Amino acid sequence: MRHLMSPLDFSVEELDKLLDLANDIEKNPDKYAHACAGKKLATCFYEPSTRTRLSFEAAMLNLGGSVLGFSEAGSSSAAKGESVSDTIRVISCYADICAIRHPKEGAALVASQKSLIPVINAGDGGHQHPTQTLTDLLTIRSLKGRLSDITIGLCGDLKFGRTVHSLINALIRYKNVHFVLISPEELRIPSYIRDDVLRANQVEFEEVERLEDAMTRLDVLYMTRVQRERFFNEEDYIRLKDYYILTKAKMELAKEDMLVLHPLPRVNEISVEVDSDPRAAYFKQAQYGVYVRMALILTLLGIQVD
Ligand code: CP
Repeated sequence: MRHLMSPLDFSVEELDKLLDLANDIEKNPDKYAHACAGKKLATCFYEPSTRTRLSFEAAMLNLGGSVLGFSEAGSSSAAKGESVSDTIRVISCYADICAIRHPKEGAALVASQKSLIPVINAGDGGHQHPTQTLTDLLTIRSLKGRLSDITIGLCGDLKFGRTVHSLINALIRYKNVHFVLISPEELRIPSYIRDDVLRANQVEFEEVERLEDAMTRLDVLYMTRVQRERFFNEEDYIRLKDYYILTKAKMELAKEDMLVLHPLPRVNEISVEVDSDPRAAYFKQAQYGVYVRMALILTLLGIQVD
């Protein structure tokens, strides 16, 4: 039995296979329409979500399976003090696979250690969000045609943004990927990514504060929101929340084929006027999230479709 806790749980070759499968699902959805008939996905979300939970549910429904679960801790027996370990043992009796989101780092790992079914980390605190990374990799590979030889700017809340941490971990395995880390001083990338991941692997990166200083060089700009829920005080959040706003004027500095990605939800960091720019790919990215989660469910359940 296999779980997904981090994008590194798959080798590069396995990731390529998974992304190929997602592309085939995109092209031939009918072929997969009954692949999970009789199977059940449990979505156990202790934190709010729109995309991750609903795209998992859409993915399982597209595969002909069924879904069950809860969308907030307060509507589960966590409100009565039940542990994640006990909950997953019980869910193992009801479902074939489980996607779990929890505010505590490591909660999905704890669940996987007690589970009798495959567990997918759908976000654990400020730590990792591997299925967002699969979505991001599929989007970049599908729209740019490659994951190597790119300069990617990661902009915004690099301290608390778990999607950024997961994406860096995944992209360092491809050749000639250059990272431009764009953030205010207080939201810089944590040292466990800067030192233990980037420097430890001799990966080229630079840290800048002004988005304008990076724009002209980027193949991909990955915007993030400031993570209000992880701040200790509201004043700091209010001071930093509008630090970066991507506007049409700033887009004029960018390459004609630069992609703008964002894991969403967006708050103010991308002006809605940018949505009509052909380089804005964040809604396509949400669609790719369904294909890649379909591919992931099939892979973890060991289901092959000929
Ligand atoms: N990108 C993402 O994780 O969105 P949700 O929080 O809506 O699931």
